[in-house]
Amino acid sequence: MDFHKINSETSSIWDCELIVLPQINTQAGCITALNNERELPFSARRIYYLYDVPSGSERGGHAHKGLYQLIVAGTGSFDVQLDDGIMKRIVTLNRPNIGLLVVPGIWRELNNFSSGAICLVIASQYYSEEDYIRGYSDFKSTKVDNII
Ligand code: TYD
Repeated sequence: MDFHKINSETSSIWDCELIVLPQINTQAGCITALNNERELPFSARRIYYLYDVPSGSERGGHAHKGLYQLIVAGTGSFDVQLDDGIMKRIVTLNRPNIGLLVVPGIWRELNNFSSGAICLVIASQYYSEEDYIRGYSDFKSTKVDNII
């Protein structure tokens, strides 16, 4: 799959996939290492993480025009709701060696954070407010209707 060819106007929730990340087991614990364009399907420009998320909080609530992200539950668990304007899909993340690839043009909401959860996000671009679509109706208007 060529991730860079995904069109944000026609992308679907099924373009977002769970990726099993390599886990190196040692007697003293595990290591997961991600290299650009190897285990990671894109080149990383930014890493950020959500933590100390109060119980009942919701994060996300936006889409991106061009950004690819790999979302990982570093610790604990949370749900990611993916929405392409037609279909929705909820993915629960709860393992540090499973990543959810979220492609451009997908509305996402994160909730059900467990206590102490860490949401690690590896992103293909630097932070840019220009890349966000923060209004749901604006998002819907960017999507082509007949993507199925
Ligand atoms: P936002 O992406 O809206 O949060 P979330 O999707 O997790 O609910 O970002 C929240 C705030 O943090 C907003 O003011 C922008 C800022 N921010 C950065 O400065 N750099 C970043 O890389 C990110 C992701 C957010």
